[in-house]
Amino acid sequence: MHALDPLLSPARFEWGCATSSFQIEGASSADGKVPSIWDTFCSQPGRIKDASDGREACDHYHHFATDVRLIAELGFKHYRFSIAWPRITTVDHKANLAGLDFYKRLLDALDQHGITPNATLFHWDLPAHLEGGWLNRDTAYRFADYAALVAQHLGDRLPRVATLNEPWCSAFLGHDLGVFAPGGQNRAQSLVAAHHLMLAHGLGMQAWRSVQAKTSLGIVLNPELCDPLTDKPEDVKAARLAEQERNDCFLNPLFGREWPDALLQQIRELGAIRREGDLSICAQPLDFMGLNYYTRSIGKAPVSTSDATRGYTFVPPTAPKKLTDIGWEIYPEGLTRVVQNLQAQWPLPPMWITENGAADNTGLAHGAVDDGMRCDYLEAHFEQVAELIRAGVDIRGYYVWSLLDNFEWAHGYSQRFGIVHVDFQTQKRTPKRSALMLQKLLCE
Ligand code: FCB
Repeated sequence: MHALDPLLSPARFEWGCATSSFQIEGASSADGKVPSIWDTFCSQPGRIKDASDGREACDHYHHFATDVRLIAELGFKHYRFSIAWPRITTVDHKANLAGLDFYKRLLDALDQHGITPNATLFHWDLPAHLEGGWLNRDTAYRFADYAALVAQHLGDRLPRVATLNEPWCSAFLGHDLGVFAPGGQNRAQSLVAAHHLMLAHGLGMQAWRSVQAKTSLGIVLNPELCDPLTDKPEDVKAARLAEQERNDCFLNPLFGREWPDALLQQIRELGAIRREGDLSICAQPLDFMGLNYYTRSIGKAPVSTSDATRGYTFVPPTAPKKLTDIGWEIYPEGLTRVVQNLQAQWPLPPMWITENGAADNTGLAHGAVDDGMRCDYLEAHFEQVAELIRAGVDIRGYYVWSLLDNFEWAHGYSQRFGIVHVDFQTQKRTPKRSALMLQKLLCE
């Protein structure tokens, strides 16, 4: 790629790179950090593909100064990261000043390099000591306390803050499919978790705004685009249900709307967990929405009993479709389609693409990483963003996932999403061809 579409010129459009605390920080018990549910999950045999964990990860806790310099050298003026809740609060819910200091040092370094921070309060690393986790309504109130605490200590230095990253993953991967922490497999509980997460979002927005009124506040979602395998009515219905679970379940509460009937029917406990007034708490005015987009899904009518409660079965993409190394279909048009679908249903605020990228596991050869597949993937998605803007959609920035190769959740270190290669033995960072491509585009 030789030049950016003028609509994406860094003078008018925000370019950044993204990471999350558990995936890069390491230092998992340093300076008073307490365990998160992901530390617990990683310690359970069979949960993580390569039996790894986040104890060291990219050791960003100790390498943040080098990493920030790298972000600046690559030409990014914006950096999205998350704050680790278990690093900055104690088991008795007080502030852990030593943990907060890390984020102050990080913000100082960003500031010195003229990089604007874009923080997420919760990217899945829930403190392990919060009993019941997201199944307990009290966790939503604890989140509000945590949000207020961050606002008090760091709020004047954070212009834009998202409450949650991809609450669908915490709720459904964590409590229904069991592949993410805490590893539950109970459909109704995943919906309970989803409700408490959205309540936490609303309470967190209120708590933050009561401390720092001027911050731009929003949430980051990973909306689903699910195409039916065939045009048989049962497959079409199944694909729609998959989209409702991932989209309506989170977007409806954001705009004060009830869940669709299909979801309500799956949860008998809802009457007890949803209290009068909850929906209006969830529906705090949003300053922005972050969208994470990687791929689409293909759905068909359920084929097993457990899928029957969900209402759909996903089928893997088949040849000759192009896949990234994690097996996700490369489908750039999906970004445009998913945004159009959302726009047709909800009154969206200004949007940022807060994550987009590819697992391309190309390794080091002669000191360089030639990740051509990732370059093509990114280029194709940049074109979609430009087209969306041309069509009048209010998208204000793009963050590539990820700055560094890192701990890819249940895949451990087996999947590399970084534009910068990390040697996990030596912690050496090597910018890949994709990073150099971006550098050229952003610095020209
Ligand atoms: C997203 C997550 C992010 C990363 C990418 C590949 O769902 O938000 O942490 O794992 O997928």
